[in-house]
Amino acid sequence: MHDQTSESGYFTEAESADVVIARNQKATDQRLAEVMAVITRHLHAAVKEIEPTEEEWMKAIQFLTATGQICNEWRQEYILLSDILGVSMLVDAINNRKPSGASESTVLGPFHVDDAPLMEMGADICLDGKGEQMEVRGTIRDLDGNPLPNVLIDVWQANDEGFYDVQQQGIQPEFNLRGRFRTGPDGTYRFWGVRPKYYAIPDDGPVGKLLGALGRHPYRPAHLHYILSAAGYKTLTTHIFDPDDPYIHSDAVFGVKESLMAAFQKVDSPDEMAASEREGWFWRVEHDFILEDAGRNG
Ligand code: BEZ
Ligand code: FE
Repeated sequence: MHDQTSESGYFTEAESADVVIARNQKATDQRLAEVMAVITRHLHAAVKEIEPTEEEWMKAIQFLTATGQICNEWRQEYILLSDILGVSMLVDAINNRKPSGASESTVLGPFHVDDAPLMEMGADICLDGKGEQMEVRGTIRDLDGNPLPNVLIDVWQANDEGFYDVQQQGIQPEFNLRGRFRTGPDGTYRFWGVRPKYYAIPDDGPVGKLLGALGRHPYRPAHLHYILSAAGYKTLTTHIFDPDDPYIHSDAVFGVKESLMAAFQKVDSPDEMAASEREGWFWRVEHDFILEDAGRNG
């Protein structure tokens, strides 16, 4: 390192990052010290490149302040910021490099609830009867093609107006469009939901304003969320998407992957409708998943 300046502790424009990093030498947590060194270097480089006015820097501080102020139990504006910057997907990609053949992951999002009801296979997660009925089914296998029993499948989705139950407390029933299922010996799963629609991520706060100012829309294409967990396998947090959705190529949070497209098929033949336990036509979505064993590296 260049020294005198950082050793003496005097701050100069040219040596700014080194001076700050040198001050952290007695850090007790080495990982924290490394992380802060990288962040300090990149942040100082960005400020040097941008050369903000003092008013611009204050605007940035006010944006971060407002981002914190709008957070509550159900509103996590910093996660949204990370999402629209593509950082959530980057962290996901770094931590979930999959061997070929294994199902791919995508963002968790802010609307997961830990204790959704455990349901019988074939149950309906829609508790208010609103929306176009949809049967979702598939098989969960390992990388060798063996069906996996005892997989806990945690699913959640927005309603047909694009809202999760936790965003409409008192309007939607608690746990509407959420459920957990466990696969049996054949590894298959099946449940009923409603056809999802695209929706806007919460855009009435600072992140929404930022998107607007950048000329970006706040929409996520229609999807269903899954977390699949089983002893001996890596937990998979993912979605399946409607490939015909108008926002499929411009997800506000960059969560779409080619392998996560599901086929939505309209079932309206009298025979097939009669074979289901349902009145009237419905959508059928088939999607299989392949889990990676926990012991694999990278
Ligand atoms: C979601 O899919 O639930 C979601 C993901 C990122 C931001 C907002 C919502
Ligand atoms: Fe979602």
